[in-house]
Amino acid sequence: EAAEKGGYPHFMLKEIHEQPKALVNTLSPRMVDGIPDFGIKALSDDILKSFKRIYIVACGTAMHAGMVGKAAIEHLVRIPVEVDVASEFRYRNPILSKEDDLVIIISQSGETADTLAALRLAKDQGVHTLAIVNVVGSSIAREANSVLYTWAGPEIAVASTKAYSVQVAMMYLFAIQLAHVKEMISVDQTKILCAELMEIPQLVERVLETADNCQFYASKFQNAHDIFFIGRGLDYALSLEGSLKLKEISYIHSDAHPAGELKHGTISLITEEMPVIAVATQTALMEKMVSNIKEVITRGAKVLLLCKTGQDEMDQLTDYVIELPKCNDFFTPLLAVVPLQLFAYYTAVLRGCDVDKPRNLAKSVTVE
Ligand code: G6P
Repeated sequence: EAAEKGGYPHFMLKEIHEQPKALVNTLSPRMVDGIPDFGIKALSDDILKSFKRIYIVACGTAMHAGMVGKAAIEHLVRIPVEVDVASEFRYRNPILSKEDDLVIIISQSGETADTLAALRLAKDQGVHTLAIVNVVGSSIAREANSVLYTWAGPEIAVASTKAYSVQVAMMYLFAIQLAHVKEMISVDQTKILCAELMEIPQLVERVLETADNCQFYASKFQNAHDIFFIGRGLDYALSLEGSLKLKEISYIHSDAHPAGELKHGTISLITEEMPVIAVATQTALMEKMVSNIKEVITRGAKVLLLCKTGQDEMDQLTDYVIELPKCNDFFTPLLAVVPLQLFAYYTAVLRGCDVDKPRNLAKSVTVE
């Protein structure tokens, strides 16, 4: 097993560090002349053009990747996207149209029972199903109308890291492709977005160099009983993933909240005993985040801030800052997730937890 870990103390840390390679492996084969090309017959341009609404259905971390996908598709393509956890979708008698809808199923293992059931439900109603799956030949890959494989390689740690990143990358690529086919963006815009996306793996490499910083902050927060994550827009989707990573492996209770929603209840829980991790990478929402961060600091919270480099107003709010390299705001989830994963990892290690095999959890949930 030590050999399989490639010199890392845990699979999770190894897999976090494999993200740049996993991203390149997933993105490069789908890029032809700087434009996405999936080469899937069942998903011809004409079929892609016909979709007027998209459902994204998944569980756990894969569902969080779907939330980034929703934001990306709605932003570029301007069609409504709903994200649902599979165990809800399958029992809520969803309103599906076989003429207009596409159901995207996201799953690392391709075997999650609820996700597979959701796929079957959509297929039975004649709706086109597109699976984004990491395991070749898995049940979901076999049963979906079309498949886009992510190439993360085997993921051993129960807490998903590299599989999330490649799912998010695939959602971006799909959003760009759909926008291109539907002529919502020009060929030049398509190429610029693709070029920016292709630069992400190198930037992730740079973010990985901040691991010591994440370890230091983990040591500051390791004794907390509860931690809140706050963010807006894409940063809220990320907060959900950061919070899930932390709670599943460190057993610290954590929750993610849309920062603007704090005042409707959650803020009553903010005291000096409640550290807050603020994810604030989106320039358009910066001012709003600054005021939300001030609100929690006023109530005594110690704040760890995740933002882009050069945000002076932000930096001055707190002593605990993790800075990300500059990139298009649209793609920052792929960078920002890395410190959140590392923070969860180091916190769990410091607390003596079984990082790769957290209690009560399974890598693949094949029963309901
Ligand atoms: C389990 C795993 C999670 C994963 C979820 C969905 O809960 O522990 O890491 O996100 O299942 O799994 P899937 O294989 O469908 O992505």
